[in-house]
Amino acid sequence: MDRIESIQKGLVDGVRVSNLVCQIHGTPMVEFTEPKRIGGEDNSRVLDPFCLECTQEEITKYSNQKLEENLNAERFIHTYNVLARDSTIPKEFSEASFENFLVKTDEERALKEFAENQVQKYLDGMEGNTLITGGTGIGKSHLCLAMARAINEGYKEKGEPVSVLFVSLTEIIAKIKGGWNYNGGATLPEHEAIEILVRPDYLVLDDLGAKNAEIRPKSDWEQDLLFSVLDKRTKTIINTNLTGKELQTVYNSRNYSRILKGLDGNTFKAEGIPDKRFRLLRMKEELAKAQSRKPP
Ligand SMILES: Nc1ncnc2c1ncn2[C@@H]1O[C@H](COP(=O)(O)OP(=O)(O)O)[C@@H](O)[C@H]1O
Ligand SMILES: [Mg+2]
Repeated sequence: MDRIESIQKGLVDGVRVSNLVCQIHGTPMVEFTEPKRIGGEDNSRVLDPFCLECTQEEITKYSNQKLEENLNAERFIHTYNVLARDSTIPKEFSEASFENFLVKTDEERALKEFAENQVQKYLDGMEGNTLITGGTGIGKSHLCLAMARAINEGYKEKGEPVSVLFVSLTEIIAKIKGGWNYNGGATLPEHEAIEILVRPDYLVLDDLGAKNAEIRPKSDWEQDLLFSVLDKRTKTIINTNLTGKELQTVYNSRNYSRILKGLDGNTFKAEGIPDKRFRLLRMKEELAKAQSRKPP
């Protein structure tokens, strides 16, 4: 006996078969014997007769959707969520994106287009590093973060979430060394740091080599650390204010060759873009002044 028959025979409490037929399934619809109200006090309404098949389909659809959401939440722990959760993103870049990267000169446009193009190549499955070189304050970090975010979102939209991590190697090194200064035991053990940097599908190394007044080779320890990371990776996005020549002074040839891994067509040398830090500060000051002059 199917469910409709049981209801027709009065075997199911509280419902009866109505005289309406479902347009989709052609089966009789059922209704509550006592009018049932749904919704809040202000907009409650009596439930219309309903189709059991349609209701079952809705329930199945809803539970499949919930199941999918839960599976995704699980999948995102080690993929999509990595960028926001584990990266070291300075506050000034909390909103950095391609949309808010202002373009005034041809070179700025070319740099932005290069970064957007790299994202597309990575979304298309390209293996190989990306390198952006150029002076301080020209938007390298801003664009690298925009790239990281776009890659993360792009893969999520494709239904193939990946892990993307944005870090400054200088900060990681400080964390490792920090422990040595305090108690002889590292806060971030070196092997863990390497593991953190090797694991993500896409890694952004922000401000590699952090240019100081003096350009000199990094210590053997730092060279080995970088090598352990780059040697095992194929998709690392690097920005630096060191020139190609300076990179070769600061890093040994093993590291330099790992930086160049798959770099053909994936490098941008920004030469004439002005430092934005000063300009942005001035723009903000001017804006604040203009606002303070405004009548209330
Ligand atoms: N073209 C741009 N449009 C909007 N903001 C920019 C642009 N270029 C740089 N900035 C902002 O200026 C500051 C310095 O840029 P940053 O990305 O740190 O430069 P770099 O990494 O090359 O030293 C950041 O706050 C960044 O968001
Ligand atoms: Mg930077």
